[in-house]
Order: sequence, then structure tokens, then C-alpha cells
Amino acid sequence: MHPLRVRCAMSKKPVELTLAVEHLSNEGLGETVIPNHDGAPPRTVMMRNALPGETVDARVLKRRKGVWYAECATAGEPASPMRSPSACQHFPRCGGCSLHHMKEQDALQLKQSQLQQALAEHNIEPQGWQKPVRINRLGYRRKARLGVRCVGEHVFVGFRESFSNRVARLDNCVVLTPQLSGLITPLRSLIGQLSIASKIPQIEFAQGDSTAVLMIRHLQPMSPQDLVLWQQFEQQHAVIILLQSGGYDTLQTLDGQPPERLGYQLPNWGLHMQFLPHQFTQVNLEMNQVLIRYVLALLGNLKHKKVADLFCGVGNFTLPLARQGAQVWGYEASADAVAMAEENAQHNGLAERVSFAALDLYTDSQAAALPVQVDALVLDPPRSGAGPNLPRWLADFKGDRVVYVSCNPKTFAADAVHLQTAGFVLQTVGIFDMFPNTTHVETIGCFHRTGAHADG
Ligand SMILES: C[S@@+](CC[C@H](N)C(=O)[O-])C[C@H]1O[C@@H](n2cnc3c(N)ncnc32)[C@H](O)[C@@H]1O
Repeated sequence: MHPLRVRCAMSKKPVELTLAVEHLSNEGLGETVIPNHDGAPPRTVMMRNALPGETVDARVLKRRKGVWYAECATAGEPASPMRSPSACQHFPRCGGCSLHHMKEQDALQLKQSQLQQALAEHNIEPQGWQKPVRINRLGYRRKARLGVRCVGEHVFVGFRESFSNRVARLDNCVVLTPQLSGLITPLRSLIGQLSIASKIPQIEFAQGDSTAVLMIRHLQPMSPQDLVLWQQFEQQHAVIILLQSGGYDTLQTLDGQPPERLGYQLPNWGLHMQFLPHQFTQVNLEMNQVLIRYVLALLGNLKHKKVADLFCGVGNFTLPLARQGAQVWGYEASADAVAMAEENAQHNGLAERVSFAALDLYTDSQAAALPVQVDALVLDPPRSGAGPNLPRWLADFKGDRVVYVSCNPKTFAADAVHLQTAGFVLQTVGIFDMFPNTTHVETIGCFHRTGAHADG
């Protein structure tokens, strides 16, 4: 594809091109390949806020490994039928989201095709597809890490800009919950008044059902006057401020106390879950309830069944499984998450039904084998996948059902190969839009053992 127009290509000024957008990448970027000069290989241009079929004015912002990354504006009609007006005034400069310009159905299709491609690359053919599940496009995000940048008098608080490492200047964020979003502008003005404004690299947000917490990472001690400002902020905005001078073990309240717990309800199972602000919890707690319901439905009647819940966090799946009548073994690398899971079991009256252990499931020798013979396996690993012990767990396992919750289609597909080798078929799979407007996708697959148990 030849650019329709090129400006400034030979000068130091940014290259500007008028281009027809050919494809949509898995990252939600418009993509076009243009010829290079002097017989060099063609060049790929990746464009934010551009959709296939559109003609755009692109301005190159970054060049990396022969690829040009460009911002752009539509240069003419017609806009793609996939285009929808963005609900975010900071899109596409803010890199927190990349799909605000797409209709929801098309964004879901893009995410599902990521999963389809990943499975096809490993020759995994699901027997059935669950329709993509969506519930809330905005105001869903209860956890976030925002950068802080001071430039002269100005303070920026935000996600990184797309195609750059700079902190975006945000006034609000429509994917955060309204309470968290409403804190961004007041935070900018408060940080500007601190004696150590430039020594605050980031702020983490975490919100439970009733309380929001801000974890303020600071590289130098706060002055007494800084502490007064934070106290006023706490009262005015009904949030809890935690100061963090080093790792998470340094988190403390303004009066030097350890952090309090946050909580969320799982009303369908009569559960109240607690967690510490830095601990892993699902960012979209409404969708989390949908995930739990779906996982339980896939497992069917759990009365008197034994289940292993691997990568269990603070017991988000473990306790609903136990509430349905199963005996559950929950494993997790983080010792403080395991301690919280045990407390969660205790205060929800399920201590007799669960056993937790803090184990690195990738490396601990004890994690090479399943603890007991279980009837079902639930896996909810990090992005890196279930890890090197998966084939051994499957060799031990005599049950017929594995439910796999994944935040990375690539590792899900790679792990599906081990399941296939062990005699399982992917009976049904589907995506859940846990992170709308971003290209992140949550997948749940149900694997069913078909024939004889293949060893190894
Ligand atoms: C996607 S989260 C799921 C947590 C939980 N199932 C939930 O729904 O909240 C993945 C969990 O795996 C844990 N994890 C990461 N690497 C691990 C490892 N090597 N061994 C065991 N757990 C690990 C993380 O601490 C995190 O709690």
C-alpha cells in the first residue's frame, strides 16, 4: 500500500502521512504496510485510533525495530462501521485503554479472535464456544496503579501515554469507579502542595465495597505539613491514605498503623471476602461474580466432591466451591494471601471444608504432585500460565473435569496442549469482558476427559 501523501519525510520534523488503514492489530491499533525506499523491506505503521477501511492523517511518534507508531485523525469519510464515539476525553493519548473508539460488539469480536488465533496456533479445536459475556463498559475498575509526574508547577497523575513512557495528564478516568476517578484532580492539586512532590513516583488505588484506599509510594519522608495535608484529604474525600516508603511490607496509615482490610460481598454464596489493599483481587468485582457463577455451573453438583483450586489468591473461588458442598484444597504462592484466605474461610464458617497452603506452584518440590486425589481441578494462574508442573498434575489426576480461568489467551492455548496430551478435550470456551475498552481478555475453558487417561 503506497501512502496517499507523505510530508516531512526527509527533515527532522515528525513524519506525517495520509494512509488507508488495512488491518486491526490484536492491540486495537490500525495497521498498514508501506513500501520503503532503496529496496529496504516494507515498513509497518501502527496507528492508534484508526480502524480498517478508514483514511487517516498519521503523525509518527515513535520508531522501534523498523515499525512506526503514529497518532492519527480521520482524514475523510466514511468512518469505519466499527467506530463509536469515545466516552473518554483522554483517549487515545492515555495508554490505559485502547478500544474506546470501537463499538462494544466489535471490541468483543477482536478479543474473541485473539483467543481463536492462539488456539488455532496450537491446533486446539474447542467443541463449543460460549457467547462473549459483557456487563459494564465503564466505571468498573477498582484497582489501578497510576504514575505521578511533576513538570515545573504542573502535576500529572495518570496511566502511561500510549507509545511513550510519559505519565498522561488525566482529570478523570471513565473506566475507574466514579469514586476513584473523582480523586484524580484533587490528588494533582494536593501533590503540588507537598514538600516532596517530585519524590512520589506512583499511587495505587484499591476499592472494596465500602472503602477506597490510596497507597502513596514516596521516596523521601513526608514533612509534618505534608501529613496534615494528607489527613485533610482523607477526611474530605472519605478515603484511607496509606504511605509506602518501600515494599508493600512498609504500608502504613498516616498514624503509623498497619493497613486495614477491604472487603467485597459475594451475595449469591453468602460470603464476605476480605483482602489487604495490595493483595490480588479481580479488578471488576461485578464480572467476578459472573465468573464464579459460571465456574460453579461448569463443575455441576459439588456435594461431597474434592476439588483443588490452584492459584487461589484470598479464596475467591475456593470459598464459593466450599459453600456448594465441596472439600477444597487451595494453593497460592503469596503467604499473606493464604493467611487471608484462611481468615476468610474462618469468618464465613467454612474452615472445616478448606485447606490452604502457601506454595510456589512453579518451583516448590511439594507442588509437583497434587495433594490428594481430587474430582475436579480449578486453575486460575497469572499471565505466565499454569507453569511447568501442569503435566505432572494431569498425570496424577483421575477426575474428568478441569476448569481453567485465564487472563492470557497465549498461555491458555499453550497449556491446552498439555491438557489435550493428557486426554482432555476443550469442551467449551468463552471470553468474559473483565477489562472493557482495553485489549485484556479473560477466558474460561472447561476441559473434559474423553477416553483413557494418557500417562505423562
Ligand atoms: C489471576 S490471580 C487469581 C487469584 C484468585 N483465584 C482470584 O480469583 O482472586 C493468580 C494468583 O496466582 C498467584 N501466583 C502467581 N504466581 C504463582 C506461583 N508461581 N505459584 C502459586 N501462585 C502464584 C498470584 O499471587 C495470584 O493470587
